Amino acid sequence: MCGIIGYTGPAPVLPILLEGLRTLEYRGYDSAGVALVGAGALSVVKRAGKLGRLLQALDGDTVEGTAGVGHTRWATHGEPNDRNAHPHVDPAGDVAVIHNGIIENFAELRAKLAADGAVFASDTDTEVVAHLVAQCRRDGATDLAEAVRAAVRRLDGAFAIAVVDRREPGTIVACRREAPLVLGRVSGGALLSSDVAGLIAHTRDIEALLDDQVAVLTRDGIAVTDLGGRPAQGHRFTVDWDIAAAEKQGYAHFMLKEIHEQPLAVRETLLGRVDAEGRVTLDELRADADDFRFVDKVYIVACGTSFHAGMVAKYAIEHWAGIGVEVEIASEFRYRDPILTPHTLVVAISQSGETADTLAAATHARAQGAKVVAISNVVGSSLARDADAVLYTRAGPEIGVAATKTFVTQIIALDVLALYLAQARRALFPDECRDHLARMEALPDLLAQVLDSEQEIAGLARRFCRAGYVMFIGRHVGLPIALEGALKLKEISYVHAEGFAAGEMKHGPIALITDGGPVVALATRGHVRGKILSNIQEVKARGAVVLAIATEGDTEIKEHADHVVYVPEVHELLYPVLTVVPLQLLGYHIAAELGRDVDMPRNLAKTVTVE
Ligand code: M6R
Repeated sequence: MCGIIGYTGPAPVLPILLEGLRTLEYRGYDSAGVALVGAGALSVVKRAGKLGRLLQALDGDTVEGTAGVGHTRWATHGEPNDRNAHPHVDPAGDVAVIHNGIIENFAELRAKLAADGAVFASDTDTEVVAHLVAQCRRDGATDLAEAVRAAVRRLDGAFAIAVVDRREPGTIVACRREAPLVLGRVSGGALLSSDVAGLIAHTRDIEALLDDQVAVLTRDGIAVTDLGGRPAQGHRFTVDWDIAAAEKQGYAHFMLKEIHEQPLAVRETLLGRVDAEGRVTLDELRADADDFRFVDKVYIVACGTSFHAGMVAKYAIEHWAGIGVEVEIASEFRYRDPILTPHTLVVAISQSGETADTLAAATHARAQGAKVVAISNVVGSSLARDADAVLYTRAGPEIGVAATKTFVTQIIALDVLALYLAQARRALFPDECRDHLARMEALPDLLAQVLDSEQEIAGLARRFCRAGYVMFIGRHVGLPIALEGALKLKEISYVHAEGFAAGEMKHGPIALITDGGPVVALATRGHVRGKILSNIQEVKARGAVVLAIATEGDTEIKEHADHVVYVPEVHELLYPVLTVVPLQLLGYHIAAELGRDVDMPRNLAKTVTVE
């Protein structure tokens, strides 16, 4: 959700904050603001809208200080206007707070503060924190850090906050609970950020703050304590990607760059997964084969695109490892009473590793005795830390709000996990596992071939971009790809799109077909191809214009579909890695054609840290 940045040190503060906000803007873009402290003064500038509006407001202004914090917002409490933009300040103008997350007991706290005479300038939950910190200082807290610790002890919810006080220039105090916050030490100072992307231009040595830890950042470095003031330490790690990976490198949008990075991302994710004997090895998993031998049930929990990757994995785990799999939306799973035992494996998928619903589902599963394996793209993320075992995708930073390369690498990681389970349970012969791995290793080159059809797809996008409604249909592993194709299209182009199980069309959705309405059909080779051809005929008979995604060499499909995009032939279970690419490109080019803000679609944020 919101992006947080903070810096204290000898370098000019404002440019560092603005550069950090530019990097973090993908996390939320309803408003942006900065607060700087120096020479006993606190300066706050904030504006509704994207970062550009803040830059305009700052134009020619000299906002200076020895420390400062910046915020880019995804609104939860209060509409996105100037008043509700962060930072929020206490009535005396001493303390400024930025915040990512939700203060769940803010209404109660606000009522108490109001009863004591407090007047609020915004509708946000965050402003309550500024009032509370100021009150704790008035009530005798020795310094800002003590005041923040006292205030946070009264907060419920999931949050990351950073606070500055004009009476302590050069100091930033930060705290987190169930929302990400990372710290970096730099020459003569320190930085904080919601994620590694905000720090990578300055340092690769990161300390992730843990729940209820408080960090005090000064020119002397960073001191971490618990809420009682006792010394503590966050989770320290080094990131292995550099700033170039988080830049557009000549592409019009991050999303397009990330679509084109998929061959490399898949190659990286497969690296080192096979030993000299051709066996699957998962060294980073923090578990061994014995932990998996007796697994008798798998639950996969995730949200959005990660949920679709889980749907794809169900077919592989059931087919290769012979274990029953249920795939559930994380926000639903956590409020059910799933039957979990020590032999249940819960696979929690989240590219960010910070999605609140998925974290809560994983916690729910562990509390009931199940083992949780995390699939995440972010080393050291909350999900990766909290799980019993972790398998990383190695897609590199994904900045576009629409998930692309993390989706295909999630499928790869899950397929490797499926083979690992099959191996542990001796459900496949070693040479069968080896063959499947060899087929997966061929995927990067095949992905590059699919990307070659971009211009053809851009042409189709021009044809389809004025359609009011696009349907995606698929069967078997084509179904999750139909759902994913529809999600991609709707989230970045705002064109209404839905994915359906092709066999379900006749039970209702076919009523939506109108003359000339586009239908995208996943029609690659496999045991359901004949069935999908019938489904294509059914929608054609009612006037649909069909774009089929089919297997190279399938000339017959041209008799059924109006347009065909081909992908190379692969094992049936591996098609999703290839077939999703034309749909990502279609969504991208339709959105670009319509002039949408592809990387920052309305109402969305990259990391969803609220429930
Ligand atoms: O970080 P996660 O994988 O947990 O994120 C889950 C969803 O929020 C995410 O996939 C979302 O649906 C994307 N906007 C899809 O493109």
